[in-house]
Amino acid sequence: MSDNGFTQVIDDAIEKVGEIGRNAGEAIRDFKESDNMGKLAGSVKKGAKTAASGVAKGAKIAAGGVKDGGKIVSETIKSNAKERAERRAYRSNMHQGELTPDTVFTLKNGVCIPTVGFGTYLATENGGRQVILDALEAGYRYLDTARFYQNEKEIGEAIEESGIPRDDIFIASKVWPTMLGEEKIRESFEASCKDLGTDHLDMFLIHWPKVSQSDEEWKEKLAASWKVMEELYKEGRIRAIGLSNFLPHHIRPLLESASIRPMLDQLELHVGYMQEYTLEYLKSEKILPQAWSPLGRAVMLDDERVIKIANAHEVSAAKVLLRYLVQRGIPVIPKASTMARMKANMEIFDFSLTEDEISYLSCIPEKGWSTEHPDLVEW
Ligand SMILES: NC(=O)c1ccc[n+]([C@@H]2O[C@H](COP(=O)([O-])OP(=O)(O)OC[C@H]3O[C@@H](n4cnc5c(N)ncnc54)[C@H](OP(=O)(O)O)[C@@H]3O)[C@@H](O)[C@H]2O)c1
Repeated sequence: MSDNGFTQVIDDAIEKVGEIGRNAGEAIRDFKESDNMGKLAGSVKKGAKTAASGVAKGAKIAAGGVKDGGKIVSETIKSNAKERAERRAYRSNMHQGELTPDTVFTLKNGVCIPTVGFGTYLATENGGRQVILDALEAGYRYLDTARFYQNEKEIGEAIEESGIPRDDIFIASKVWPTMLGEEKIRESFEASCKDLGTDHLDMFLIHWPKVSQSDEEWKEKLAASWKVMEELYKEGRIRAIGLSNFLPHHIRPLLESASIRPMLDQLELHVGYMQEYTLEYLKSEKILPQAWSPLGRAVMLDDERVIKIANAHEVSAAKVLLRYLVQRGIPVIPKASTMARMKANMEIFDFSLTEDEISYLSCIPEKGWSTEHPDLVEW
């Protein structure tokens, strides 16, 4: 082998050792963020094994450095690429494979969330806690609430009355932006837990990035609040931490100081308001999007274009709207008042939209938007 060839082999070996270091860094981040100890132990073991074998191979290349060096380097790179791809697939936010009634979405820390949850904003206004009892009876095991909805107490009472074990129900709540900041956010979390009759939440979200557009300190408040979210997560009080109504320019500054990255962002998403730029960003950051107002607060149910597709599948417009989101890899939290609608909104697994229908629905111009824009609203 020529001197140049030998130098190349050594350079490759050095590059390889650097890559092993980067992989180890990623494995450590996964370890810190995941609550799935079993999988973690496995992946750490695997990572250590890869690192050890990589180092051994690297040493062989450096020492022997002649004949098989090139081959070994390329094989090692190939095997690392495969591992990275597997890890990417595991972490992927997009649902893979067939959608069934048992389908769940997996957050990047391994926590699973049901595909169809029950939205409770204004849900208990008329029917009180009976509406929640109905939703549980209809089969919902994910309840979306918020301090702002002022219904956590009714939800807590309904859960207790239902007799369903606490751990069988995924409870998500949110902190209102007036309660951001180190002390107030913890206070809000404790109040939510108390009313819901639980010592922990399955998910806790920051409801909006800022309370007012004139608040020039919103980034600092967010950073301080996120620190508390991380503490609560590490204390085991919250199984998954996330955001709501955060756009890329709200998430980026938060990521600068975050040591645990947000796992989910709940956004207004429905046919007619798909926020494609934000979805693309969330995918790149491996943050799962979740759709609020998936039916566009019923506005999209009357849309002729949606109804045409619904007729072709002999299903309701509501089912098409929900199925569309789920097929796009987005879990949904529709709200409904009657048992029949509650059940219907869960039965979206016995038909599929075609790629062309997905494309068509994705291109419907803006319609049904709530007008609640995170950079425009004043709370
Ligand atoms: N993070 C946030 O800032 C935020 C903001 C808004 C909402 N959310 C969450 O998202 C949840 C859902 O959003 P949303 O309540 O605004 O709107 P939505 O779920 O898009 O629509 C609810 C409306 O659709 C109707 N509906 C439901 N299922 C139906 C069916 N199968 N057939 C016909 N009509 C049907 C309901 O009527 P009935 O109730 O009369 O049955 C209600 O009028 C909320 O409850 C809340 O948990 C979060």
